[in-house]
Amino acid sequence: MIKYTCFLVLSAAICGTAIAGDAAAGKAKFEEVCSACHEKADQAGKDASALEAKIKDVASGKAKHKKKLTLTDAEAADLAAYWTAK
Ligand code: HEC
Repeated sequence: MIKYTCFLVLSAAICGTAIAGDAAAGKAKFEEVCSACHEKADQAGKDASALEAKIKDVASGKAKHKKKLTLTDAEAADLAAYWTAK
């Protein structure tokens, strides 16, 4: 838990005013749904807000994706926070 809090603090520092998602919640969702096809390492260190936008595009059907994703905006932010954490 301390580790994830640290991620949140770090990403908040890097992203300035952006409110980071909850990486711990994102981890649970990632392992439940995304890890069947995606590697955690693929997005590690990338920009969380850019990935969040991409995940939202996938969930809304705007971006093509192999699997239909049903995610709330909060879940997209959580996933982005976890997935981009190193
Ligand atoms: C059935 C397999 C499958 C599952 C499950 C899956 N994806 Fe994907 N996803 C893909 C494939 C295939 C691609 C296209 C190739 C790539 O970029 O890895 C992709 C691409 C993406 C991209 C675009 C990446 C980029 O850099 O443009 C995002 C964002 C994404 N997936 C998010 C998710 C999230 C979030 C979940 C879980 C909630 C998820 N995916 C679950 C197969 C899957």
